[in-house]
Amino acid sequence: MRIGVDYYPEHWDKNRWKTDIKMMHKAHIGVVRIGEFAWSLYEPKEGKFEFGWMDEILDFLDKNQMKVVLCTPSAAPPKWLTDRYTDSLQWDIYGRPKLFGTRKHYCFNSDVYRKKVKILNEKIASRYGNHEVVEGWQIDNELGWSNTTRCYCESCRKKFQSWLKAKYQTIENLNQTYGTVFWSQIYNDFEEVIIPRAGACYDSCHDTQGQNPALLLDYDRFCSDSVISFAKESVNSIRKFSEKPVTTNLLDAAVNSGTGIDYFKLAKELDFVTWDNYVEFQWGKALKETVSRDHALLRSYKKQPFWVMEQQAGPCGWSKMGPSPAPGKLRLWTYQAVANGADTVVYFRWRSCPFGTEQLWHGILDHNGDENRRYEEIAKTGLEMDKLSKYYKALMPHPKVAILKSFDCEWSQGIHRQAEGLQYDQYQLDYYKAFTKLGCPVDFVSPEDDFGQYKLILAPLLLMTEEDTKNRLEKYADGGGTILFSFRSGIKNMHNNMLQETLPGFLQKLTGIEVEEVDPLLEKETNVSGVFGQSTGKIWCDIIKSKQAQVLGIYTGDYYSGRPCFTVNKFGKGHVYYLGCDLDENAMKKLALYLGNGLEIKMFPYEIEGVEAITADDEEKEVLFLLNHSDSPVVVPVQGVYREMLTGERGEDSIYLEATGVAILNFDNN
Ligand code: GLA
Ligand code: ZN
Repeated sequence: MRIGVDYYPEHWDKNRWKTDIKMMHKAHIGVVRIGEFAWSLYEPKEGKFEFGWMDEILDFLDKNQMKVVLCTPSAAPPKWLTDRYTDSLQWDIYGRPKLFGTRKHYCFNSDVYRKKVKILNEKIASRYGNHEVVEGWQIDNELGWSNTTRCYCESCRKKFQSWLKAKYQTIENLNQTYGTVFWSQIYNDFEEVIIPRAGACYDSCHDTQGQNPALLLDYDRFCSDSVISFAKESVNSIRKFSEKPVTTNLLDAAVNSGTGIDYFKLAKELDFVTWDNYVEFQWGKALKETVSRDHALLRSYKKQPFWVMEQQAGPCGWSKMGPSPAPGKLRLWTYQAVANGADTVVYFRWRSCPFGTEQLWHGILDHNGDENRRYEEIAKTGLEMDKLSKYYKALMPHPKVAILKSFDCEWSQGIHRQAEGLQYDQYQLDYYKAFTKLGCPVDFVSPEDDFGQYKLILAPLLLMTEEDTKNRLEKYADGGGTILFSFRSGIKNMHNNMLQETLPGFLQKLTGIEVEEVDPLLEKETNVSGVFGQSTGKIWCDIIKSKQAQVLGIYTGDYYSGRPCFTVNKFGKGHVYYLGCDLDENAMKKLALYLGNGLEIKMFPYEIEGVEAITADDEEKEVLFLLNHSDSPVVVPVQGVYREMLTGERGEDSIYLEATGVAILNFDNN
């Protein structure tokens, strides 16, 4: 466990470097990430490379006992490239090329862009691949940031057509699968197939709403594959010359909305994953639960500890700023990452830059470069982490509960939202919140993952799934596993078309029920009652007929009053639940408690408002993290005698936490 910082030595006078490094050491900063936007320094003119400036930086850092994550600079192509190779430009959904002046204006499918990136990446990797100071690599920067995963240019159109040809073989097959007979869209050749730019008619959801849903889903998959193939090429350029681990910084930022990249797939190409965590800034404030969920996703992509590659370090924004992190928050956010499985937290950025778009984006130091309150807090955190590392290797929760996250389902639900107020990641978050508020950590699994290590798989909104996943879910339940499905599960095939079987389609056998009728609620509400107490549905009601399942909840209003809304089916040695409606927050918590208790999963029977409680271990020793996200002190009841690892103090049965306070309790060995 340690801290690091995103550093831009090229932004400052060399005379300052010594002071920076001295201050970093004093703050226990052990690693810097550098170079992710430096293309125009490496290659000021086409084919004219300059490395002296980076040689000097790396040698300086090496001499001063600093470790480096070195980046490939493809996220900000220089002016000469953009001017000369206009087909390297990404196009937006209206078919307009993106322009030079910011960053990320390139197309992942542009051959010329890829060629240029490869040349430069290989030069960098061959020059620095074995440099002592380099401990790892970051490729590009925030792939897909700012709506850049989906490009709508001509290269993408052609590559998409080849992608389709490989998938469907004949145009007749594509027509049949897509149902292009609807609205006279039958294609005669793959070369006729469109990419879904903004269409002639659309509804209020998004600009491509009126288009063929099978085509839309394939385009989402194709774009994700394109980014991953670009990433893979960059990773390969490095691996050719270096054995150091390679990553890239992902964007599950709680206040951003995801990138449209299948991160489970991308993670397979990387040695470790990292992400960028801004909590309170110009574009909003994240809830503690959404940040926690994002950390959980990160540890889930590879089922191993991860890094935060950019952690907010000051008041942030481009044209306006969000609030300055109040005393204790930078430390609190750092421990939130560590408790959830991060073993390195890198702050963005070392010192606030006086020029450029991000001159208001404050780093640890203000523009004047002096020590300040935030620096002191980070230095204290760095010292604590050094001490903790003497007792623990990377800590990570090992949950018994996992949420099945499918990018196919997420994209499908983005294409056809099914009901007002329904959003895939938000609805999954409801489950994450319900369990974690009771101190029960939750992982995420992909449809391809092994489910065996979990007692409970939550599979809300499993709209579609591959036959293989369905079979493995059946095997898991048969062998004693417990699964929960929600409404809108088992409704589609993998081409984003509705099934013709009675719902829940491919889940009929597992769930032991039939959905007779659906009622998306729009402006009405429905009351329900069951093992989760009383609740009000606001989004969706499935009117269920039980075939062999036991009824655990019913509707108490509307024309389906008395009909089941929640059931459980015994399946082999296991159990399969089906929840036909949405529940309010309180009922979700009761549901979590009901399921958790039934499976003897360790949970608190209560929630302490504002406190996040996470049990993590380093495979040998276990600790309980208590994080007070609220503005007031709290007393947290705990069970037994403990030693608090940050202060070394012993205690019993409860612990006092000041506002933004953190405690790490060791119950084993005190
Ligand atoms: C992102 C980027 C950084 C920087 C920060 C602040 O996370 O990766 O380069 O732009 O945001 O805006
Ligand atoms: Zn493109």
